[in-house]
Amino acid sequence: MTVPSPASGARAREPFQPARRVRAFGTTVFAEFTALANQVKAVNLGQGFPDFPAPAFILQAAKEAIDGHLNQYTRSAGHPRLVHALSRIYSPLFGRTVDPLTEIVVTTGATEGIFATIQALVDPGDEVILIEPFYDSYPASVTMAGGVPVYVPLRAPAGAYSAREWSLDRDELARAFSPRTRLLILNTPHNPVGKVFTREELQAIGELAQQHDVWVLSDEVYEWMVYPDASHVRIGALPGMWERTVTLGSAGKTFSVTGWKIGWAIGPPHLVHAILMAHQWIPFCVATPLQEAVAVAFEQAEARGYFQELVAMYQAKRDKLVRALEQAGLTPTVPDGSYFVLADTGHLDVPVPQGERRDVAVCRWLTTQVGVAAIPPSAFYSPGHRHLVAHLARFTFCKTDEALDEAARRLAVRLGSG
Ligand SMILES: Cc1ncc(COP(=O)(O)O)c(C=O)c1O
Repeated sequence: MTVPSPASGARAREPFQPARRVRAFGTTVFAEFTALANQVKAVNLGQGFPDFPAPAFILQAAKEAIDGHLNQYTRSAGHPRLVHALSRIYSPLFGRTVDPLTEIVVTTGATEGIFATIQALVDPGDEVILIEPFYDSYPASVTMAGGVPVYVPLRAPAGAYSAREWSLDRDELARAFSPRTRLLILNTPHNPVGKVFTREELQAIGELAQQHDVWVLSDEVYEWMVYPDASHVRIGALPGMWERTVTLGSAGKTFSVTGWKIGWAIGPPHLVHAILMAHQWIPFCVATPLQEAVAVAFEQAEARGYFQELVAMYQAKRDKLVRALEQAGLTPTVPDGSYFVLADTGHLDVPVPQGERRDVAVCRWLTTQVGVAAIPPSAFYSPGHRHLVAHLARFTFCKTDEALDEAARRLAVRLGSG
């Protein structure tokens, strides 16, 4: 569209162009596949949001906070009751007292934690190491800050059946560091692989970060969804790592309230202060009554056995989806953490339109022809590495048992061998 000139004789403006930092962005893969799933009434195992109610005790706490007139701005770095509750929860997990007033910033979901941390630590031209597959806001936030993403893929042997078979090649990771490297972004438990990084793997990453004097942003939003046989290790709790690590969490994942957009960044005072300097000019502060409700939820969670209940619920749902995928011949990568499963679609003979990526065509076909929506994982890769997941689709199991059973039925009818 050409914008008309405001006064006769004035020079006509150029056609409208948004700022360069957003010019290359399209709509997200989640928006596209959720719209398609709604259109064809597919069971949506694509986007990772729970379709069941949040726990009653957190809903009640939010209602009481609103009725109690906690409806005005609160402290920019985080509502006092929430930062104290977070300090009580996380201090034992980091093996140190996390100062509620200087070592925590409450953010608008982990997404703003990612954005604000990158704004705070990355200068134009700085390099940021991203592990593929990545959560798609990482490269967007890096490029909006003028940073340069450097990609290192997790590698999996052909026919991998377990998330722990996906690993980083240490030498490949070491080669990604340069004098311009400023930050490395890590995600454990990992979306979409479901990998929970081991202590040894995190130590190797930490050693490289220390050697090259690089900060680490550790996105741990699935920290409470870790299944037996795996345990969640925090890189920020490893020797020498606290001083250079920012750890992110999310109430959306922890309490099944993704629409509340409450997250937090935890780290040493110098990093947290820098994040606060960015955060104060992004949202200024985060919704007060919802912060109060998350505080109440954390205060009550342990006594209610909430975290054990959450993991048991998700483990049962994981097993249900893994069984359904196996029965449909879509060999799953069994996750140790998170609520995602990658499944092998390599044997499906799906037409791939010219110029389209195979996993995108397969996920569209699964959505429209099988009635079960999945996300093409190439959306979580840089263009040069997208071929690595042409044979995979990502399914989520943060859905009601009814939805998972209906998906299993549709997969069995369309794809099952029996
Ligand atoms: C790895 C990862 N990080 C961050 C987020 C976003 O968290 P929030 O909803 O708290 O912004 C997600 C959501 O899917 C995620 O998968």
